[in-house]
Amino acid sequence: MIEFFINGQPVQAEDNQTVMQAAKAAGFYIPYFCWHPQLSVPGNCRICMVEVEADGGGWMDIACNMPVTKGMRVLTDSEKVRARRKETLQFITLNHPVDCGICDKAGECTLQDYHFEYNGSPSVSRDAKVHATKYFALSERIVLDNERCIMCTRCVRFTREISKTDSLGVQNRADHSLIRPVEDGRFERDAYSDNVVDICPVGALLSRQFLHKARVWYLKPTASVCPGCERGCSINIWHRKSEWALKSLDARQNARIDRVTPLENPAVNGPWICNKGRDLAQIFERARAEQAMQKGKPVELKAALVSARALVAAAKRPVALVSSWASNEELAAFDAALGKRMACHVKTDWHAAPGEPIADELLIRPDKNPNGAAARSRFPALPADARLALPPDTDLVLVWGEGLSFAQLPPKAKIIYLNSYLQPENGHADVFLPISVQTERSGHYTNFQGVVSAFEACFAKKSTVADAVDVFAALAAPAGGSAK
Ligand code: SF4
Ligand code: SF4
Ligand code: FES
Repeated sequence: MIEFFINGQPVQAEDNQTVMQAAKAAGFYIPYFCWHPQLSVPGNCRICMVEVEADGGGWMDIACNMPVTKGMRVLTDSEKVRARRKETLQFITLNHPVDCGICDKAGECTLQDYHFEYNGSPSVSRDAKVHATKYFALSERIVLDNERCIMCTRCVRFTREISKTDSLGVQNRADHSLIRPVEDGRFERDAYSDNVVDICPVGALLSRQFLHKARVWYLKPTASVCPGCERGCSINIWHRKSEWALKSLDARQNARIDRVTPLENPAVNGPWICNKGRDLAQIFERARAEQAMQKGKPVELKAALVSARALVAAAKRPVALVSSWASNEELAAFDAALGKRMACHVKTDWHAAPGEPIADELLIRPDKNPNGAAARSRFPALPADARLALPPDTDLVLVWGEGLSFAQLPPKAKIIYLNSYLQPENGHADVFLPISVQTERSGHYTNFQGVVSAFEACFAKKSTVADAVDVFAALAAPAGGSAK
């Protein structure tokens, strides 16, 4: 350990730490644009300038690239430092349009925050601003406003060092510099490309999905887990705050996923997620099944539960096909209620979609289900030929979740089906029970490495939809008892 001083206070630094790293670890704030804890250090924005006191005069240097030395005396907020920050911000905003009022990054923009904190003055320049490309289509997912870009090169370094597609670069020099994708379309195929939107410190890189959808202060994040693969990345699901509910005829406007961002978790995904995680609305906002049915005929949920319970009570050779999207709590509830009553197998609810990346060295994993490992720790996996687990005299199959064609089931077996989405199989089940989705309940998943992560409810479920844990309790209740 090396002892040095920040603003007169002793601070312990690890060997080889920079002033930025040691200051951050000790709780001292130094502003930064181009520095990012997971990326290399280009030292190009100069906003992190600090003063070093020394006998016979000191010097100014950038904290992100200056190694700590023993006894060093650093000032992070001296008059000289504040003056230099102000000059740096004047320089950075020379050609910036300062159009915060219409910028999606407003509320999350460090340039806006630093301007407020360290500058606050109008531009001293009398020259006309240099104009650059607006709304440049960087990819199908991302749009670039070159006038807002401060050339920190975080996005370029991300594709070189993290996603390793080397797909962004800087074209031209000085105030004509432009971020551009390489010409072979690699950025379009970068499965992690949306992370550059998060790490862009200003509003230059914008998600097309989210563009002008909402001001961020109208939204709130709910901690969740991406179910897109067995990595189980920690995420924030952003949705409308109730106090800012839209007065809309379409109630879904206030109960939809507005965006998904990574929730930093060093044990699972660090600060990154893949693009599939950003697109969870495409999974969760498919047309929902909200009506219980018996052989395709709509019935009250309570009546459907009574019928399903009668089928369970009457069955001699019942089999359950357990969902690999079930939470740990649901698996435990199922096991306690029906695990001994039925022969249980874990099915694969989701397979990779055509063209979807199967696996890589960063995050993406081949099993496209969030809780398969936890489910298989309780019950054996369903063989590829489902008939091996479904003997011909099977008289009842409880199918939980998606991904199974009823054609694989013994033709004479009764079927109880628990599913959340409108699908043709629903109407073919003897009893169909609509169940809640992950965004309507809380729970935990265990990822392929054994790390347990929690998710919270974002939205309320409809009263005609059941939670799977309540279904299992009702199905195991003694005959004559009341189904919830
Ligand atoms: S687009 Fe954003 S992340 Fe990329 S160089 Fe410009 S300011 Fe930095
Ligand atoms: S790597 Fe897997 S869990 Fe992580 S965001 Fe992508 S799909 Fe979701
Ligand atoms: S953060 Fe140090 S130079 Fe940019």
